Amino acid sequence: MIIATLKEINEDENRVAISPDICKQYCKKGFSVYIEKNSGLKSNFLDIDYQNSGAKISEKNEILNQADIILSVTSIIKLPELNKLKKNTILVGTYNPYENSKTLNDLACDNISVITLDFLPRISRAQSMDVLSSQANLAGYKAVIEASSIFKKAMPMMMTAAGTIIPAKCLILGAGVAGLQAIATAKRLGCVVYAFDVRPEVEEQVKSLGAKFVHINEKKEIEKSHSVYAEEMSEDYNKKQAEKIHEVGKEMDIIISTALIPGKKAPLLIKANTIKSMKNGSVLIDLAASAGGNIEGSVFGKKVSIENTILYAPSNLPSLIPYDASLLYSKNLFSFVTTFINEEKKFNIDEEDQILSDTLIIKNGKKVISF
Ligand code: NAI
Repeated sequence: MIIATLKEINEDENRVAISPDICKQYCKKGFSVYIEKNSGLKSNFLDIDYQNSGAKISEKNEILNQADIILSVTSIIKLPELNKLKKNTILVGTYNPYENSKTLNDLACDNISVITLDFLPRISRAQSMDVLSSQANLAGYKAVIEASSIFKKAMPMMMTAAGTIIPAKCLILGAGVAGLQAIATAKRLGCVVYAFDVRPEVEEQVKSLGAKFVHINEKKEIEKSHSVYAEEMSEDYNKKQAEKIHEVGKEMDIIISTALIPGKKAPLLIKANTIKSMKNGSVLIDLAASAGGNIEGSVFGKKVSIENTILYAPSNLPSLIPYDASLLYSKNLFSFVTTFINEEKKFNIDEEDQILSDTLIIKNGKKVISF
């Protein structure tokens, strides 16, 4: 069986779906690995590293014509190249089906199967394949690093003969995977860190990282939530939350928002009046912009100035740490692919398995999940 990867075609995508180390592991299991020339370059992996790990460096056409499984990060194969794929090819990546439904619909042809790992269920058996968590973790880290480079002051307290620098105050909204890593990173950089999440169970995790948890004092509403994921809150709760976030937010130097509700628009947590009351030079980073944004005025992929603050809504933070992001991503994919290899060393599309039934969107040319 030939497992391959192509050079990512999206301009802002620096990651690659197979690292040289993982290439070696596929080869050890008896698979052939084809890597399109220069696929790993933007992640600091050279063709020679892949060759030394057992890969064949190939031209795109050779991969399209011969590969059994093509792994990618975000790139979707488009026409006319789609016509060059051999029958029964399996494509695996993170295709963001709700945003790319038109392009993905073209793939529903000629016995091609498509698996998107952004639909992976959050069950313990799938933890080693969880690309969303591995990449969100890096995004949380990088969000703080980006904020620190935009911020015109130092982050930690410094006592010097020339005077004392006071530590930056940083608020993290949403304490999921990205938020918790942002808290840990901001703490390491010496910020005084505050955090808020609608899920009360994260308070302990927030505190164990050394941050202060912001309370809304609306026990009745919070107790309603039984899921590990956030749900949409009532209007009354949202009003109280907005007041509290405004009160805390206006004192902050840096706000990083990561709040998402699966399958829904992101909650709007910072309004224009809060931004207006913040100090000159404050920095806001909105990681939820692809889902509508947590911060009023954020523009996906852009840095904008609002009332002497800078509001940045990065489009793809893991891609800005492509070396480590690719290492983790390719390991997640290796774990996914090898889980479904049968005795004949073929990838078995076992739809009885929840991991596959949730992630397989096109089976042999037919859409099996609507997007
Ligand atoms: P996410 O990316 O969907 O959301 C980020 C955070 O935003 C969540 O913590 C959510 O509660 C919060 N949020 C939503 N609405 C909000 C609002 N109005 N105000 C403030 N915060 C708001 O979540 P993520 O990071 O993907 O993880 C969600 C949960 O899933 C966590 O408990 C995490 O530990 C768990 N998880 C479980 C895994 C497994 O069992 N395999 C793997 C990864 C995560």
